[in-house]
Amino acid sequence: MTSPALTHAMGSFANTHGYLSAATMGLPTCAAVAEMTEKLQQWATATCNPMNYGDIVERTRGHYARLVGIDSTRVAIGSQTSVMASLVACSLPAGSHVLVVESDFTSIVFPFLQHRDLVVQAVPLAQLAASITDSTALVVFSLIQSCNGKVADTEAIVAAAAQHGARTLCDVTQAAGVYPVDATQFDATVCHAYKWLCSPRGVAFSQSLKTSAGTSLPFRLAGTPVMMCGAASTAPK
Ligand SMILES: Cc1ncc(COP(=O)(O)O)c(C=O)c1O
Repeated sequence: MTSPALTHAMGSFANTHGYLSAATMGLPTCAAVAEMTEKLQQWATATCNPMNYGDIVERTRGHYARLVGIDSTRVAIGSQTSVMASLVACSLPAGSHVLVVESDFTSIVFPFLQHRDLVVQAVPLAQLAASITDSTALVVFSLIQSCNGKVADTEAIVAAAAQHGARTLCDVTQAAGVYPVDATQFDATVCHAYKWLCSPRGVAFSQSLKTSAGTSLPFRLAGTPVMMCGAASTAPK
């Protein structure tokens, strides 16, 4: 027996029984296809008003915020997680130690490897929490690994990061929409919506870093004082 919610969800899609590749590419709902078709038609007939996009973006930020349990003022939109991870990479002082997971998705690993100024260490997922030390500035990991579906032990990782004063960046692309996400645990998250959130490619979210005042801050770019969770510093950890 299926619940009314599941029946409603199943009725929201075209008949795609047997499709098992949402981890690669999620499918759109019929409503999303109708809306996009209408918008394309408006674009093609020069009747599109870009001023209307703002409301859609605000609603979308609100949806992501609700889904992962944070305030929408902390949610930024973008086109790809790799771009957003790059902003975080650029915000780190030279010499910062970044811990990543072996075989994690390239979009959250390569932006840090590209920065010769950063010291990046890759460890197996199971050893991530135990590998955090006082010299770790940032721990980067996917909540669910795209290559094998393994779920990170967020409790252990977050506890170890707090103990050693490290920040956390969690990619929730393979989790949001299909697995519970409590983004309040992390300093920042990134998420591309084209998997379990059934969007087209090019819709991504990031959650800005917390400050000690409890407000949000946009990511800072290289060369400016870095503020991560209220700790203003230009010196590498
Ligand atoms: C964990 C994870 N993050 C991010 C992405 C998408 O990366 P990007 O937004 O840079 O295209 C994928 C796509 O497979 C993924 O599995």
